[in-house]
Amino acid sequence: MDLFPAIERLRRERRAIILAHNYQPDEIQDLADFVGDSLALSQKAAKTDAEVIVFCGVHFMAETAAILAPEKKVLLPAPDAGCPLAEMAEPEAVLAAKKEHPAAAVVAYVNTSAAVKAVADYCCTSANAVRVVRTIPYEEIIFLPDRNLGHYVARQVPEKRIIIWPGFCVTHHRIRPEEVEAVRATHPDAPVLVHPECPPEVVDRADFVGSTSQIIKKVKEMEAETFIIGTEMGILHQLRKENPGKKFFLLSPGLLCPNMKRTTLERVHHALRELAPVVTVPEPIRTRARTALERMLAIT
Ligand code: 13P
Repeated sequence: MDLFPAIERLRRERRAIILAHNYQPDEIQDLADFVGDSLALSQKAAKTDAEVIVFCGVHFMAETAAILAPEKKVLLPAPDAGCPLAEMAEPEAVLAAKKEHPAAAVVAYVNTSAAVKAVADYCCTSANAVRVVRTIPYEEIIFLPDRNLGHYVARQVPEKRIIIWPGFCVTHHRIRPEEVEAVRATHPDAPVLVHPECPPEVVDRADFVGSTSQIIKKVKEMEAETFIIGTEMGILHQLRKENPGKKFFLLSPGLLCPNMKRTTLERVHHALRELAPVVTVPEPIRTRARTALERMLAIT
């Protein structure tokens, strides 16, 4: 069966919107009503008038949509798509850190569970982490769970004291600074654009640091012909689609998030047909987590 028209028919019948992250498989991106970074996807979920949100991404992203749009049915076609980084912070450990630093605000990266967001003061994504930390009326901040994004924020906002959690993204954390140097030698004119989840020594050597959507926007604005991309390979699909005359190389081999690749056309079709698996967030966690997310959206 050709699943594209079947999905399209069900999408209409169910009054559904299909949201996909920039790291999703190419065919899922092509199918989606909207493709974006974590921030844009959460904004879209908060505003949509669709009755059903099909979230093509990983679990914390669907959870974020369920927190922001409790009256909608949020479907996660790949219920086994977790995020190892999000599992690196537990609510009990966050509460213990708060006790140790009573004057500090907790800023939780959106790559966290709803239970962690519920004990955080603010959320952020890679697109707005610097702005959130700079703007909020706290001098001391517990930043979690990504240590590399935490280092990046700390460097951009030196006037604040940032207590950095030790988590990391397994995909980005393995990129080495020598890889940037090697690529500079082979492609001396190609700008290097990286995600802030890369280690600080990689970020230091890059020409641009930003979220996936910020990288896509920057490439469009730049005049170079060849670009080196330091983030998950799914981003190459939008980059190639939007810039047919430009060439792209990944900074490092193996920039692949296996969880993001768990979404398939069959699973999207199944989700729309069965209206399952549904992601929900119980109260009072949902309301508490929503406060942290809404504070972020108000700053962005
Ligand atoms: P973005 O903020 O660019 O969507 O990053 C998402 C992510 O999880 C990176 O690993």
